[in-house]
Amino acid sequence: MNDTFLKACRGEATDYTPVWMMRQAGRYLPEYHSVRSRFTFLEMCKTPEAAAEVTIQPVDLIGVDAAILFSDILVVPEAMGSPLEFHENRGPIFPQPVRDEAAVNKLIVPDPEDKLGYVMAAIRLLRKELANKVPLIGFAGAPFTIATYLIEGGSSKNFFLTKKMMYTEPALYARLLDKITASTISYLKAQVEAGAQALQLFDSWAGVLAPRDFAEFAHPYAKRIITALKESGVTVPLIYFANNGATLLDQSKTVGADVLGLDWRINLDEAARIVGPGIALQGNLDPCALLLPQDKLEQRVAAILEQGKAASGHIFNLGHGILPEIPPAQAKLMVETVHRLSAKG
Ligand code: CP3
Repeated sequence: MNDTFLKACRGEATDYTPVWMMRQAGRYLPEYHSVRSRFTFLEMCKTPEAAAEVTIQPVDLIGVDAAILFSDILVVPEAMGSPLEFHENRGPIFPQPVRDEAAVNKLIVPDPEDKLGYVMAAIRLLRKELANKVPLIGFAGAPFTIATYLIEGGSSKNFFLTKKMMYTEPALYARLLDKITASTISYLKAQVEAGAQALQLFDSWAGVLAPRDFAEFAHPYAKRIITALKESGVTVPLIYFANNGATLLDQSKTVGADVLGLDWRINLDEAARIVGPGIALQGNLDPCALLLPQDKLEQRVAAILEQGKAASGHIFNLGHGILPEIPPAQAKLMVETVHRLSAKG
């Protein structure tokens, strides 16, 4: 098996720097659109054969060193009982937002095999189809990020309603976060039992929080998930990605993760200095930098590889998801460049 990714997560020596891309199974690939034309987005998430097919596409077409399950972080709050809709080109919507005690009370902590069995089926199918070609990454949203979608009813600009609940009804906020946290722990355990070989926790909106609010309203819940997984005997590498989180790194380093994912707003060597030894780093090319001409892209990749040497293990990635506008050939060029420039001996 190509286990370069797993080795780098554990801080072990590798023959080259492994690379994958957030959102690598997605709309920049014509092959994705061809599957997607037959299903809505949520149908695709819930059809294991379709989810498996698009998960494998970037492995074959782009040459990445890991596959990430095609799904969405929002299937968990849907399984907790809040209806979820995706409108074409408008992103996710929760038409019944969770803003008061009655709404929090109504949410359940789902049995993952019962309510999210299609995810576990996709993972089992993928382990068969990947046949150990590359490892399979499972994932979930971190509780703060999931809470913002439930409370706001979708994406948000200033997270007013989320912060309003945090500040004016902290006990209610804590009960909501407790439910999301419990749901996420059993969901991620089930993913590992089904065959996920690493897990990433996406805290996509953590960067909107002041450091003291991150400490009180986000970090404890992410830490509880990671602690619970490790205590229950989960040994696969755990990655925590707090988007726009450079100013939170001194806190993120205590979340318990084996790997911290970084966006492009900080250099990896500076991040390594803050984080210290024993934690690998993942990142962190600006997704838009994939538009650079070849020589300039190569310089960027080289600089990130150089900075990554300061860390206890480096997995190359983008600083956030690949954008639908990026030509696949540029993504492929980036992956080949990472492999070529980092090859040892
Ligand atoms: O990384 C991968 O390739 C695996 C698949 C994956 C998707 N979403 C597929 C997707 C993963 C890991 C996610 C996570 C996710 N989903 C996050 C966290 C990561 C991040 O970007 O910070 C968030 C915040 C979501 C919620 C979500 N899903 C939004 C806001 C949107 C709409 C905006 C957008 O980018 O389209 C989605 C839809 C979505 N999730 C698509 C894909 C491929 C596009 C759906 C389509 O085909 O129309």
